[in-house]
Amino acid sequence: MSSTSDLNPSKLGTKQHWDDVYATELTNFKEIGDEGEVWYHVSDAYFIRFGEDSVEKMADWAQDYIAKDPAPLILEVGAGNGILLFTLQEAGYNGSHILGIDYSEDAVKLARAVGAHRGDGCENVRFETCDFLKDFPAPLVDIEKVGWDLVLDKGTFDAIALGEKDVEGRSPADGYPSRIGQVVKPGGYFLITSCNFTEDELKAKFTTTGTGLRYHSRVPWPTFSFGGQSGNVYATVAFQKPS
Ligand SMILES: C[S@@+](CC[C@H](N)C(=O)[O-])C[C@H]1O[C@@H](n2cnc3c(N)ncnc32)[C@H](O)[C@@H]1O
Repeated sequence: MSSTSDLNPSKLGTKQHWDDVYATELTNFKEIGDEGEVWYHVSDAYFIRFGEDSVEKMADWAQDYIAKDPAPLILEVGAGNGILLFTLQEAGYNGSHILGIDYSEDAVKLARAVGAHRGDGCENVRFETCDFLKDFPAPLVDIEKVGWDLVLDKGTFDAIALGEKDVEGRSPADGYPSRIGQVVKPGGYFLITSCNFTEDELKAKFTTTGTGLRYHSRVPWPTFSFGGQSGNVYATVAFQKPS
C-alpha cells in the first residue's frame, strides 16, 4: 500500500501554486465570466480539467443517502470554485447550511463571485478562507457545534499529499484523516474522490481508530485494463461516523 509519506512532494502541494491558479481564474471570471476549472489531479506532475463526472457522482451519492429536510450541514474542504456545492444547492440542499473552505483567498473570492453570479440560492452558499491543516472552520449555525452531516473532499487530500514533508519525513497529509474525523458529526458522512489513492488505500487511511469513521459505500467508476492489470483511475468512497 502506498503511504501519503511515499508520494513525492510537488509544487501542486504548495499554497503558492493554488494562489497562482485562482488568481488567474478570478481574473478570467471577472473578465469573461469563465467559472474556472473542475480540477482533478492525474499524476504527480499536473492537474487537468477533469470534467463534471466527479461532481455528478458525488451529488448523486448525496441525494441517495443525505436527506434534504431537515437541512443537513454540508462542508467541503478545499472547495476551489465551489461548483460541487452549487450543484448540491441546485439539487435542493439548503444553501445557507452549506460551507466551502479553501486556504487560497482567491479561490474563496472566485467561489463567492460565481455564487453571486449564478443566483437562485447559490449566493447563500458560504465560503471562507481556512487552512484545514491548521484551523477548523468557524461554526455556520449553532447546531454545527456537534459537527457536520456531510464533509466532502474532491481532490484536496490528493493535493495535500503532495506537500513538503517535515524533517522526520512526515507528509502534511498524515494528520488529515483524523482532522476529518473530528468535524464529522456522529451519524454523519465523509465522501471523498481521489485519483492518488485507490479505494483500499482510502479505506485504510480513513478507517483508523483516530478518525472514528467506518466504510459506508463506494461510487463505481469505469475500470481500465493495462498490461494485464485492471483498476480504476478514480476512487469515490463514503465513510460514516457511528451515531
Ligand atoms: C485539486 S484542487 C480541488 C478543488 C475543488 N475541490 C475541485 O474539485 O475543483 C485542491 C484544492 O484544495 C485546496 N487546498 C489545498 N490544501 C488545503 C488546505 N490545507 N486547506 C484548505 N484548502 C486546501 C486548494 O487551494 C485547491 O482549491
